[in-house]
Amino acid sequence: MKDTNVDTINDFYNWSREYWVDFSSDPHLGFGGTLNFGCWDPDIHNLYAAQRRLFEIFTQMLVPLSSGERGLEIGCGMGGNSTRLCQEYPVSMVAMDISPYQLEYARNRAQSCGCGERIQHVHGSALAMPFSSDSFDFSICIESTFHYHDLPSFVAEQARILKPGAKGIIADITCEDNSKVRFRRGNFFYSVATMERLLQQNGLELLELKRIGPRVFSPIYQFSQAYNADKRSKLAKYWSLVFSNYASVADAGLMGYDIFCIRKVAT
Ligand SMILES: C[S@@+](CC[C@H](N)C(=O)[O-])C[C@H]1O[C@@H](n2cnc3c(N)ncnc32)[C@H](O)[C@@H]1O
Repeated sequence: MKDTNVDTINDFYNWSREYWVDFSSDPHLGFGGTLNFGCWDPDIHNLYAAQRRLFEIFTQMLVPLSSGERGLEIGCGMGGNSTRLCQEYPVSMVAMDISPYQLEYARNRAQSCGCGERIQHVHGSALAMPFSSDSFDFSICIESTFHYHDLPSFVAEQARILKPGAKGIIADITCEDNSKVRFRRGNFFYSVATMERLLQQNGLELLELKRIGPRVFSPIYQFSQAYNADKRSKLAKYWSLVFSNYASVADAGLMGYDIFCIRKVAT
């Protein structure tokens, strides 16, 4: 596998998965299968609901999703997005992740949600995807690109695997000045301009850019303060520092959370 970062990524999730599963869970509804920062509109009071809202926002940018369409989730993590897509739309999914451990959780989740038949789980890297060109009717990549040490390879692969005219979603943290980020190991934040340039160079049209940073960084920081208040673990301390740092870099206008809705130009 081309990605030299695999061990760092596996170690990171093995270390923080349990913390994030609990942090993302609702006391009544449980865990939604997603590990991302979510979108905190004013009516949202926990991370479970914020992750659901983020899902609603990016799926609204993708619709219509018609019967029989086959989508790819790049960096599917524990599988919540692909599972929910299959529960709410008449599509099938290929869910790919570089971490075999994440993928195992995703596979179990799909089975227990009754979507096992409609989701194929594939171990692979976003930087060298194990799929033929022009394979997918749509794709999503949610909060995974910050792990990619070679963004140009990812964008070229993203363009290659979509069918001409197919749409994709890329949602992630963006950053205009990485020197302000406190913990940088394993994080490869890019600027909006860098992504826009790569999209254009690879024949991907930017249909819409939703900039939701103000609905992400401050609210998740505040929520984490309450969540971590009675916790003494290293993980709680680490994530408090991360969220505090991101909130202040975002307040300074140097960090964003951006949803790129793209389309492969039909030739
Ligand atoms: C923050 S999680 C997000 C998971 C999921 N998209 C979600 O919203 O819940 C990022 C995921 O990207 C995966 N990942 C990191 N680098 C990758 C790569 N090069 N190719 C495929 N997946 C990768 C990680 O293993 C992890 O599961």
